[in-house]
Amino acid sequence: MKTLGYRVNSTRIPIYLEDSNSTLLSQLKSAQKAAVVVDSRIVNIFKSLVADISGMDGTVVATFSASEGNKTLQKADELITYFLQKSIKRDSVLFAIGGGITGDVAGFVASVFQRGINFVQVPTTLLAMVDSSVGGKVGVNHPLGKNMIGSFHHPTSIIMNIQFLDTLPKEEILCGLGEIAKYAILSGEPFFDFLEKNHVKVLNKDMNALARIVKMSVEVKKRYVERDPKESGIRAHLNLGHTVGHAIEAATGYGVFKHGESVLIGLVAESHIAMHMKLLRPSTFERILEMVRRMARQRNEKVSIDEVVAHLTFDKKVKAGKVRFVLPTGIGRVVIRDDVTTRNVLDALKFVASDGMFALK
Ligand SMILES: NC(=O)c1ccc[n+]([C@@H]2O[C@H](COP(=O)([O-])OP(=O)(O)OC[C@H]3O[C@@H](n4cnc5c(N)ncnc54)[C@H](O)[C@@H]3O)[C@@H](O)[C@H]2O)c1
Ligand SMILES: [Zn+2]
Repeated sequence: MKTLGYRVNSTRIPIYLEDSNSTLLSQLKSAQKAAVVVDSRIVNIFKSLVADISGMDGTVVATFSASEGNKTLQKADELITYFLQKSIKRDSVLFAIGGGITGDVAGFVASVFQRGINFVQVPTTLLAMVDSSVGGKVGVNHPLGKNMIGSFHHPTSIIMNIQFLDTLPKEEILCGLGEIAKYAILSGEPFFDFLEKNHVKVLNKDMNALARIVKMSVEVKKRYVERDPKESGIRAHLNLGHTVGHAIEAATGYGVFKHGESVLIGLVAESHIAMHMKLLRPSTFERILEMVRRMARQRNEKVSIDEVVAHLTFDKKVKAGKVRFVLPTGIGRVVIRDDVTTRNVLDALKFVASDGMFALK
């Protein structure tokens, strides 16, 4: 077992990277009373683990069906009601076992339940391991925008059992690769080069490659989180690929394109914008495109690019009426700009469509 971890103020949040559930089970045993939110797929696939957890004294288990449509205040409220009925108290610990959706909703519940209780993230998807479980951002969607309701509530520990990934469908691995490709561009040559050489192993769920890439990704994320715990500055770089990505998700209705898949589209679109603004060399754009192409799925889904542009203005990354873009200027370098034009965005989206990542409506 390897322990990484990140610091927020003076508290160190340990990240356990292992290939069993021993830390999870021992932490559950030592909790006074535990509220456990488990993804319904995990309940179906890992029956004996869930039976072990349900059988523990003082554990209350709630099953959560993960979808963007269920990432709502209403579902959070249902969980709160259930836990109140089952006498979960301020000193109870909430465990979130599942992907990013389960972690975001359950973490949000933990952040507001009786003004906030401790919680433990147990990510079971690649995306949740490399991204959503680390950094304390929790929340739910609003019809006017994704993740519009939420807070910062750091877990007390993060437990990653890499073996969970063995049952993850390939398209979900691809989603994790969206965030991983983002880290590769942000982090620089060694990571980018590793990903260029190993993405097939990751796609084929080679456990060693997965463990390595999870560790590398968490190290990148943790550096940003430690420098900027509340996302008031440099952490905004982690939005690379997300300005366009979130607009795609919102314009098509959450769930049509998976989050990580939308990020892959966003990475190509934003790199295209950067190239056209003469911020990124065409050869580097080609390198990014080449890597994303090998990961992204070809889709016939019709997308109105005008609607995507309309959704850009609803995004949280708007400051003083201007949309802020994180644009790559090289491998390992980005810049924040608010002077991207609608024309730049439309051209970039047309390019992505011509490459087959979606169809034009
Ligand atoms: N809080 C943050 O900082 C942050 C960062 C990035 C993304 N996010 C959020 O994360 C969400 C996406 O997370 P996700 O991609 O993990 O989606 P998800 O939670 O929907 O999980 C994807 C699918 O995999 C299933 N699943 C989970 N674990 C499994 C396993 N081990 N085996 C088989 N199936 C399994 C789930 O049931 C679901 O159908 C988005 O809502 C996004 O906004 C949050
Ligand atoms: Zn993301």
